[in-house]
Amino acid sequence: MTSTSMRTHQCGELRPEQIGQIVTLTGWVATRREHGEKLAFVDLRDHTGVTQCVVDNTVDVRAEYVLRVTGTVAARPAENVNSRIPTGGIELQDCQVEVLNNAEAPPFPISERADQVAENTRLQYRFLDIRRERMQRNLRLRAAVNSAIRGAMEAQGFVEVETPMLVPSTPEGAREFIVPSRQQPGSFYALPQSPQLFKQLLMVAGIDRYYQLARCLRDEDLRADRQYEFMQLDAEMSFVNQDDVHTAIGAAVLAAAEAAGKDTGGEIVKITWHEAMNRFGSDKPDLRFGMELQELTDVFAATEFKAFAGAAAIKGINASGKAEEFGRNKLDAMTDKAKQMGAKGLVWLKVAADGTFESPVAKFLSEAETAALREKLSAQPGDLLLIVADKWDTACEVLGTLRNDIGRPPVFEGPYRYLWVVDFPMFVGVDEVSGRPRPGHHPFTQPHPDDVHMLESDPLSVRSQAYDLVLNGWELGSGSIRIHQHELQARVFSILGISDEEAQKKFGFFLNPFRYGAPPHGGFAFGIDRLVAILAGEENIREVIAFPKTQSGQDPMTNAPTAVIQKQLDELGIRVLPPKA
Ligand code: AMO
Ligand code: AMP
Repeated sequence: MTSTSMRTHQCGELRPEQIGQIVTLTGWVATRREHGEKLAFVDLRDHTGVTQCVVDNTVDVRAEYVLRVTGTVAARPAENVNSRIPTGGIELQDCQVEVLNNAEAPPFPISERADQVAENTRLQYRFLDIRRERMQRNLRLRAAVNSAIRGAMEAQGFVEVETPMLVPSTPEGAREFIVPSRQQPGSFYALPQSPQLFKQLLMVAGIDRYYQLARCLRDEDLRADRQYEFMQLDAEMSFVNQDDVHTAIGAAVLAAAEAAGKDTGGEIVKITWHEAMNRFGSDKPDLRFGMELQELTDVFAATEFKAFAGAAAIKGINASGKAEEFGRNKLDAMTDKAKQMGAKGLVWLKVAADGTFESPVAKFLSEAETAALREKLSAQPGDLLLIVADKWDTACEVLGTLRNDIGRPPVFEGPYRYLWVVDFPMFVGVDEVSGRPRPGHHPFTQPHPDDVHMLESDPLSVRSQAYDLVLNGWELGSGSIRIHQHELQARVFSILGISDEEAQKKFGFFLNPFRYGAPPHGGFAFGIDRLVAILAGEENIREVIAFPKTQSGQDPMTNAPTAVIQKQLDELGIRVLPPKA
């Protein structure tokens, strides 16, 4: 199937069934070992595997030379059979070797495990790094996932529409990359952070179901799950509610996991943001382990322990069996972390063999409190109990972070559990300067229909129709039902303190088309790099991107970013200032 005019088979393809056939392989020299006086073993490699070729030892071939080898498939002598590789039962004999190209000695062995080579070296020689098994596997998995996603979207009637890369600068979200205009010096395009505005206009335009494997660009600090440029599965649908969007996107992410051979259980659980925070202390909870947050406010309602007295919320977790593992230093570090996150402190209690609590604060707790605590947290000897008394959100967030620190398995360790988190708050907190509520999602997100009446009177209690998709504790994507009615949009802008005039200036090109018959619509986008990384068992999205940037935003292979010549700057009307002192 993959034969060409230069080869009959690939290097991982031959089996004992082909013994006796004359075949031609092409590939790279993986290893060469001398064999007696006249012969050498050459392992020829391509992305499918290796085949051992018995060659005349006078041929000058070294690691990574490109060869075309014609020979006869033969059974290996019993003592040479290698059961660890699929081609280990055969070899090519009587080989004719044609050197198609020679190669300089590579800076690192192509067969070596990738983590033993420095990141910078790997990226500088990415073309060699990709020749290795790990990157071959990851990039092919990525292609399979993309293909499954496209298949699932198209089967549901989504139409792929490409949106522009040169767009106006819009003052929301992350920092943008900008591109100077030559025709209008002093004016700039921005590279899109996402196709958000265009996909909504496609709904006004009657496309009904849009999708795109969209490249997005954001000038953010890079991390394990962030690159400047990344890919989204971006989608938007008309005449839908949240459930319709979840069904459509769910089909795509389940198909993606299936393409990667991962078991998802076939369904996606939904929980509300409030429940996620209350039970797991996170808006992207990892459901693969327990250690849920327990409600203890009632237990300490009449407590004399002053750290707990009068607290709005008291919550605790049971780090089951962890008492011994957490010595004084670790407990102090954990307390410091809790304080850094805004907690006033952290109470820990270790459950001794006789069931009593070992803790500096044990003596402050009444017998009834101790008993209730033991019951609520199902405390057993050897357990470590952690308690925070604070505002509800602080108590939840702090314990949620500790829960992850203590119990969370590596992200790529199965099972693979997708999760919808719904009913995010419409606004999160209040801006310190303006005193106005801050938007939770973008300002075009529709409030929950049951809460619209509270928009002005109690904005912080309003839920939105925004939702996230989470996989094993990683945020994969987010979306919402959008506002399509002018009046509601004006109300939301007014709460955010955006005047009509300002809205016109910032979003006019987007809002005005809505007057021409915008249908109810909603959508979603998830990060393909993140999804593929998890499915590939990789902790950093760089491992599933062919040519990524380093943490400092550079490409050691091409040296980007680089200076440009003066003529180019002149044409663009740009003057570069000397570096800041
Ligand atoms: P959002 O900004 O949440 O939503 O982005 C959606 C998903 O894109 C991925 N992602 C990234 N992946 C790698 N590197 C980055 N720098 C990066 N930034 C984001 C994440 C994220 O969850 N237009 C809205 C979606 C909508 O409302 O329809 C949007 O872009 O996986
Ligand atoms: P203090 O009374 O401030 O000396 O605190 C006594 C113990 O209670 C210390 O171990 C603190 O870390 C802990 N602590 C204080 N405030 C809180 C709180 N709000 N929630 C949980 N633990 C607390």
